[in-house]
Amino acid sequence: MAKKATREQWGSKLGFILAAAGSAVGLGNIWKFPYVAGENGGAAFILIYLMCILVIALPVLLAEILIGRTTQRNPVGAFKQLSGKPFWVAVGGMGILAGFIILSFYAVVSGWSLGYIVEAATGKFYEFNQIGSSGAHFTDLTQNTLWNISYFAAFMILTMVIVYYGVQKGIERGSKIMMPLLFLILIVLMIRGLTLEGAEKGLDFIFNPDWSAITGKTILVALGQAFFTLSLGMGAMLTYGSYMSKKDNIPISAVEIIILDTLVALISGVVIFTAVFATGESPNVGPGLIFHTLPIVFTKMPGGLFFGVLFFILLSIAALTSAISLLEVVVAYFVDDKNWQRHRAVVIFGFFTFLLGIPSALSFNILADFKIFGLTFFDLMDYLSSNILLPLGGLLISVFVGWVWGLDNAIPNLKQGAENLFNKFPWMLDIWVVFIRYFAPILIFLVLLNALGII
Ligand code: PHE
Repeated sequence: MAKKATREQWGSKLGFILAAAGSAVGLGNIWKFPYVAGENGGAAFILIYLMCILVIALPVLLAEILIGRTTQRNPVGAFKQLSGKPFWVAVGGMGILAGFIILSFYAVVSGWSLGYIVEAATGKFYEFNQIGSSGAHFTDLTQNTLWNISYFAAFMILTMVIVYYGVQKGIERGSKIMMPLLFLILIVLMIRGLTLEGAEKGLDFIFNPDWSAITGKTILVALGQAFFTLSLGMGAMLTYGSYMSKKDNIPISAVEIIILDTLVALISGVVIFTAVFATGESPNVGPGLIFHTLPIVFTKMPGGLFFGVLFFILLSIAALTSAISLLEVVVAYFVDDKNWQRHRAVVIFGFFTFLLGIPSALSFNILADFKIFGLTFFDLMDYLSSNILLPLGGLLISVFVGWVWGLDNAIPNLKQGAENLFNKFPWMLDIWVVFIRYFAPILIFLVLLNALGII
């Protein structure tokens, strides 16, 4: 197969880890995790989320990277190669659809982050001495249709430019510099958060569980968040795994990605909730949470202007490294399977994503009262993709690896590059087998049924 020989690969092992971590770490950790935890009762939600990561997401992450690396294909091509049955090819197709939907609203929020670089740089934050004014400013901005759409468009163009230049030059190079920097600034913000007056109430909220707040729906949201934050269940990790070499160690890479992603989410939780409680904001204001609270934190720290600008630059970059993985999934399919030019796929699908994102951008202004199943268009896209399509994708991927493609095929492939690890700890393989065959699919199935009200 001549095409395979010319397919790009990561420049180094670190390239994969950084790019995959770049996909995982993004708005999901810094923007979404705090606000969903805030809406769902804090500590108890966070514990369930951590359980979902460990018991469900980790085994599925291994499976997804494994399918990608084994086939060196995009999600659709990978299922075609391993099974060929239309049902499984459609599972790959569902992932591509999910990527397209997620990017459409993800880029809207990323646009806010871009816009906030300008707000921070022009000293706007210093006009806010209390939470009300910062929240009101956010509402004003998002009610401005032009502001919303133009930053959304700007972000989509940035994403398209990077994906246009391809895997190594675009995706890998960007991630290498930005990820460590983002981590550093979060730690600075965490220290500021912890030293704010009233910070203990925030810590109490995220570490002291109140189980009465938990319902079947909360569990679904926690599961959806686990998938969303790890870019799981739609083939992004599969696609990134497909650029990986057979010499790389999949289990170790997966664990590294998970540790990094979870750390960033938890640190963001501390940053946001110490600030929320110190400033008297309510934890459940929804998607605007970090835009309400962080500007106040910046006004309360030395060098706040500098840190404010830097933070929103890095947040935008974290969003960008995730957005490119979403677009890359769609593009990889059209390049591999439809023989499209990469450039053409980028332009066409970038444009369609922008069109689908417009009603999400308008959900905070013109379409604010337009509800479907009681949700705005923005919330509906988020709910549908994060809480339904991703867990369903994860369920099907685990069934596929555990039962259809089968462990006789999966295990030798998983062992490649991880011989030492599995020779030393053979029981790890047994645990993964039990989780991918039974625990992950059964648990996801039960959570989905429960949330649909069937059990
Ligand atoms: N994981 C990304 C984040 O946390 C979002 C994402 C979801 C990216 C699915 C790719 C695929 O921001």
